[in-house]
Amino acid sequence: MAETKSKLRVQSFAVSLDGYGAGPNQDLQNPLGVRGLELMEWFFHSRVWCKMHGQDGGETGIDNEITEQGFAGIGAWILGRNMFGPVRGPWPDDSWKGWWGDEPPYHTAVFVLTHYPRAPLKMAGGTEFHFVTEGIHAALEQATAAAGGLDVRLGGGVATVREYLRAGLIDELHLAIRPVLLGSGEHLWNDIDMHALGYECAKSVAGERATHVFLRKRA
Ligand SMILES: NC(=O)c1ccc[n+]([C@@H]2O[C@H](COP(=O)([O-])OP(=O)(O)OC[C@H]3O[C@@H](n4cnc5c(N)ncnc54)[C@H](OP(=O)(O)O)[C@@H]3O)[C@@H](O)[C@H]2O)c1
Repeated sequence: MAETKSKLRVQSFAVSLDGYGAGPNQDLQNPLGVRGLELMEWFFHSRVWCKMHGQDGGETGIDNEITEQGFAGIGAWILGRNMFGPVRGPWPDDSWKGWWGDEPPYHTAVFVLTHYPRAPLKMAGGTEFHFVTEGIHAALEQATAAAGGLDVRLGGGVATVREYLRAGLIDELHLAIRPVLLGSGEHLWNDIDMHALGYECAKSVAGERATHVFLRKRA
């Protein structure tokens, strides 16, 4: 039987109507940049989000269902360094362990792209952060090997998604488009020609708080 190729998937990536995937000036108080939380409003009400935070309840429905699908079949993750945290430049020490506390919501190997080497970091619940300084192809190779035949999820942030798009390496990209205008921040599409890169819109679904758009490589 032919082996199915592990895919590189972007899931539940929120963008404003004007194309921003994060607000400006990320810091400890604003992990998604200023006003960036407005991008994630569709997710904060979902049952998946509540469960991730040890809470009962949360809404079921289209937004929730699509979020759940984004976690299915994932064997490893890739993140950009700014999604991992607000620390810039050489790591001053090992004290920053991500935004998510002792038990991050990944439960797999997570490959963090950075120019600054750092020893791997084992967390509770099966997440292990590996810091990759050899670039996007190396991170994808390592993540694919770790995923053991499952797909690799590219979690963001914006610069990292843009880099992988430009290299034509993303197989599927799900965007949750929020009806807000950020006006500034990290722009997803600036100078990227998605049609020329070979992408098409496969499906669009109206959720409760976001419109879900599924892009894939044209056959
Ligand atoms: N809208 C969403 O759904 C969503 C999802 C995830 C994240 N976000 C948000 O997006 C923002 C972060 O995005 P961002 O665009 O600022 O940054 P990012 O993509 O998270 O990280 C960029 C950084 O990663 C490192 N990096 C990237 N490519 C590399 C390469 N080829 N080789 C070595 N290092 C590399 C570099 O860090 P160094 O050079 O400093 O090491 C680079 O500055 C945050 O606000 C986050 O909350 C939004």
